[in-house]
Amino acid sequence: MQNLPNLREIRTFRPDVFKQPRGFVQPTFAHQSVVLEIGAGVGLHALTFARANPSAQVFAIERTAEKFQKFNQSHLSETSPNRNPIHADAIPWVVHAIPPACLQQVFILYPNPEPKNPAQRWFNMPFMQFLLSRMQPNATLTLASNITEYLDEAEQQMLHVWQLPYVRSAVTTERRTHFEIKYMERGEPCGNIVVTKPEGYTTPFDSYFSNAQ
Ligand SMILES: C[S@@+](CC[C@H](N)C(=O)[O-])C[C@H]1O[C@@H](n2cnc3c(N)ncnc32)[C@H](O)[C@@H]1O
Repeated sequence: MQNLPNLREIRTFRPDVFKQPRGFVQPTFAHQSVVLEIGAGVGLHALTFARANPSAQVFAIERTAEKFQKFNQSHLSETSPNRNPIHADAIPWVVHAIPPACLQQVFILYPNPEPKNPAQRWFNMPFMQFLLSRMQPNATLTLASNITEYLDEAEQQMLHVWQLPYVRSAVTTERRTHFEIKYMERGEPCGNIVVTKPEGYTTPFDSYFSNAQ
């Protein structure tokens, strides 16, 4: 919590250094409402969200092969036409796949807390500014964690670095992911921070798209 970097200390993100992920296929965006989940695990939230929101196109990215295999198996046995499982590192995939001002919602649910490497926490990364540039005005980003200090730190970064409005709340009835189910069963204090991108919020990446025709 101490010695958090401010905006001047956070490096500028360099999208040009990221190569396309192996086997990359440029998605086509058939729906107006494009939703991204980063670190989707075995895909439970992506499945329930896609079912409940048939007019949304849900891209759910998972980097770990073993988790992705389970995710993909459940997807194949219970296909939801608007759910797209992606096996990739989210950072290069987003850089190459998502045009500016495209996303209506982003979910990062129970990210790895990175206890030894605070710079790898999502809200401390230079990539955050790029991700914000991919969001439409009034789009939301939902971060959930069972670690109070992780949410405290994210809140500080929202206030002082990214300067975005947000609402923090306790998780009460939600059971969105396997990690959330596990933590809630253990009685751990899970929470959400829902960040909104205001109209007129600008980033250096608002015109950047590597795959622009
Ligand atoms: C603690 S797990 C939570 C999984 C799921 N969201 C849940 O709540 O059940 C965090 C997940 O994020 C994935 N992850 C971490 N960094 C990632 C990245 N850069 N791109 C894609 N997935 C990532 C990890 O592989 C891991 O499966």
